[in-house]
Amino acid sequence: MIGAVRERRAGIDELALILEHALPGRVARDVPLSSLTTYRLGGPAALLVKTSAEDDLEALREALGAVREDIPVLVVGRGSNLLVAESGFPGLAVLIEGGLIEGGVVRGGLGELALGDGVVRAGGGVPLPVLARRAAAVGLGSLEFYVGIPGSVGGAVAMNAGGHGRDTAEVLLSARLVDLVPPATASPGSAVEVGVDALDLGYRRSCLRPTQVVVEASFRATPTPPQLCAARLAEVVAWRRAHQPRGSNAGSVFKNPPGDSAGRLVDACGLKGLAVGGAWVSERHANFFQAGPDATATDVARLVAEVTRRVEEATGVRLEAELRLVGFASDLEAP
Ligand code: EPU
Repeated sequence: MIGAVRERRAGIDELALILEHALPGRVARDVPLSSLTTYRLGGPAALLVKTSAEDDLEALREALGAVREDIPVLVVGRGSNLLVAESGFPGLAVLIEGGLIEGGVVRGGLGELALGDGVVRAGGGVPLPVLARRAAAVGLGSLEFYVGIPGSVGGAVAMNAGGHGRDTAEVLLSARLVDLVPPATASPGSAVEVGVDALDLGYRRSCLRPTQVVVEASFRATPTPPQLCAARLAEVVAWRRAHQPRGSNAGSVFKNPPGDSAGRLVDACGLKGLAVGGAWVSERHANFFQAGPDATATDVARLVAEVTRRVEEATGVRLEAELRLVGFASDLEAP
C-alpha cells in the first residue's frame, strides 16, 4: 500500500516535470479543488493543469503516455455535479477553462462559441447558460433549457444534461473528443469527431470514458424570433427560482428512478430537513442537499448514503446518485 502511494507520488513528480515544460504556467501542485465546485468543499488535487485549447489536451495526452505509472485523471468543468472528499484527489485534475473567446474563431478553443445558420458550435468549456443566452440573442432557439443548468458543454455531452422536457440528445449533432488516456487498441493521435448516435446517450448518461474530453460540440438550433427565445429563457429561470433552492448545492443528488421522481420519493419518506453535520436535505426540493458554512464534504457524502438507505428501507427503491463523488471510501462513493 505504502509502496503504491510512493510510486504514485513519483509518477506525479515525473508528470509535473513534463507538464511544466509542455504547458508552462498552467500546472500547479496540491491545488484545492473546493473553489472549482459549486459545493465549495473538498481537498486538493495532487496536480492541476488548466487547459483552454485542443493543443493543450494533445500535450497532456502525450505527457500521460510518457509517464511509467498510471495516474488517475479527473476532468473538471464547472464543478456543478461534483463532490470531492477532504482528502482530495491523488492524481491529475484537468480543468477545462471556459472563458468566452470573443472575435476570431480559434480551432479547438475550449471556450469558443460560433453561432451559425441553424448550428451552434461551442467549446467544451463554455458554460451552458452562456450557450443558451448567446444563441437566443441571435434568434437561435431550442437551447433555452440550458439557461438553468450550471454545467459546461462538455459536462452536458458526458451526462446528457437536460431539464424542462428537453435533453442534450435532442439538440446535439456531434462532438469532438480527445482521450487523454486512450486504450492500447486506439489508433494513435488526436481528436475524433463523433455523431450523437455514437455517444449512446441515455437518461443522464453517455458512453464517454472519464478520460475523454469534449473539445467542442455542435448543436442543432431552430431559427426563432429573439423575443420568443428571451421569453423562454425567462420562463426557465423563473421556474427554477420558484422550485429549486439556491445556496451551496450541486443540483439533483439522485437520478430519477424509472417512472418516478427522486425528489418526490425523498420527500414522501419525510426526509426534508434531515441533517448530517452541516449538510441537510433542502426544504424546498428534497433532491437538493445543501451545505452550510460548517459542512464538510464527508457530511454531504454521509447524507447521500443515509438518504439512500432510508428511501430503500421505506420504499424498496434504490436511488442512484447523479452527483459524482470523488476520493471517498467506497461505501460512501457507492452507498
Ligand atoms: N417533488 C416533491 N417534493 C420535492 C420535490 C419534488 O413531491 O421536494 C415532486 C414535484 O412536485 C413533481 C416531481 O416531484 O411532481 C418532480 O419534481 P421536479 O418538477 O422538481 O423535477 P425533478 O424530476 O426533481 C428534474 C431534473 C432537474 C431539472 C428539473 C426540471 C433529474 C434528476 N432532475 O427534476 O435537473 O432541473 O427536472 O426540468 O432529472 C439536475 O439534474 O441537477 C437538475 C436539477
